[in-house]
Amino acid sequence: MRGRSQYLDHLARVPLFSACSKKELQTVARASDEVHVPAGKVLVEEGRPGHEFFLILEGKASVKRGKKKIADLGPGQYFGEMALLDRGPRSATVVADTDMDVLVLGQREFAGVIDEVPAMAHKLLTTMAQRLRESDAKAFSH
Ligand code: CMP
Repeated sequence: MRGRSQYLDHLARVPLFSACSKKELQTVARASDEVHVPAGKVLVEEGRPGHEFFLILEGKASVKRGKKKIADLGPGQYFGEMALLDRGPRSATVVADTDMDVLVLGQREFAGVIDEVPAMAHKLLTTMAQRLRESDAKAFSH
């Protein structure tokens, strides 16, 4: 585990947090855990209830719906927000393709950070709009 100030510097370089003040970053750091994940681990399983949000610090993951791969995710990208926001089942499976370091926020911490860090809420909404746009484009392209 890195030192606290190094961890804050690391978070400040993550695009999701780039508009955050130092105080807001401290809120995120306090609410989150950094976790090492071995390659091959299923982090999120389609259809299951979900209680965590993940942000990738290092490494890569695949997003799959059924057997079909729908996205690749890498450092700075995140997943698991949908089930936390609408309390529905996980919309896809996410598997670690490599060893990974992820930042994990539990449901309550995620909700707290969204309330306290508006810049992060805006970025999450932007990403959701982009994913919806991409998914519509794919659905109507054939
Ligand atoms: P959630 O439904 O909680 O769990 C699966 C996650 O996969 C989902 O949240 C999103 O974070 C992510 N996800 C779902 N669909 C896509 C997509 N089309 N592109 C990238 N990520 C996705």
